[in-house]
Amino acid sequence: MAFELASPNHVHASRVAPAALVDLAPFEIRDEAPSDLAAREALLDDAFGPVRFLKTCQRLRDGSAPAPGLALVATDGVGALIGTLRLWPVLAGGRAALLLGPLAVAARSRSLGVGGALIRESLVRAADFGHRAVLLVGDAPYYARFGFERRFTERLTMPGPVERARFLGVELVDGALSAARGRVVPAAAPAITLPQAA
Ligand SMILES: CC(C)(COP(=O)(O)OP(=O)(O)OC[C@H]1O[C@@H](n2cnc3c(N)ncnc32)[C@H](O)[C@@H]1OP(=O)(O)O)[C@@H](O)C(=O)NCCC(=O)NCCS
Repeated sequence: MAFELASPNHVHASRVAPAALVDLAPFEIRDEAPSDLAAREALLDDAFGPVRFLKTCQRLRDGSAPAPGLALVATDGVGALIGTLRLWPVLAGGRAALLLGPLAVAARSRSLGVGGALIRESLVRAADFGHRAVLLVGDAPYYARFGFERRFTERLTMPGPVERARFLGVELVDGALSAARGRVVPAAAPAITLPQAA
């Protein structure tokens, strides 16, 4: 799905400074492809640095695959990767849900609506696929605009340290998280082969 920028900034720029429009090119949201791997890793390194591997959310992603159809990238007018977002299947207190993240947008492409477009597209797709709720750990002032709220995660715990104020959720189906209570765990734990006793 292609998104044309229609922000107030765009309107303003087109009226007073046509030259500024070179920075306001359209962007596209599409499924992540295997060929995106290197550019995506570089984008995540730039956005988060090496601490990205230490986050509690990463414990829920290790050894798992993103939910089908919910690994998205944004590309600019010449096809360069400028944004990435993945959602992961988890169980939240025994209830099926998705974990959103990581979300990153290239520094040169921020505040153009790319992050918002990735989130909205992922939530629309998730609802279409029948998912019922989405969780994340992130900045409430950013994610509140997409419907994420603290109240949906109050009875849930993550498998490691998180700032409670940043642990947020949104229901795609009313009441999906109302009875969710307990630990968030990967939905499909990888098979572990234990060594045989001698
Ligand atoms: C957060 C991020 C993905 C936003 O991407 P984006 O494409 O710039 O987002 P949008 O264009 O949809 O929205 C931009 C708006 O959100 C605001 N915003 C960005 N990060 C914010 C935050 N952490 N808290 C509150 N507001 C935030 C911007 O100030 C901007 O406001 P404006 O429209 O009034 O200028 C991007 O800044 C990024 O990659 N940051 C580094 C990685 C990161 O923090 N990822 C999120 C992990 S929780």
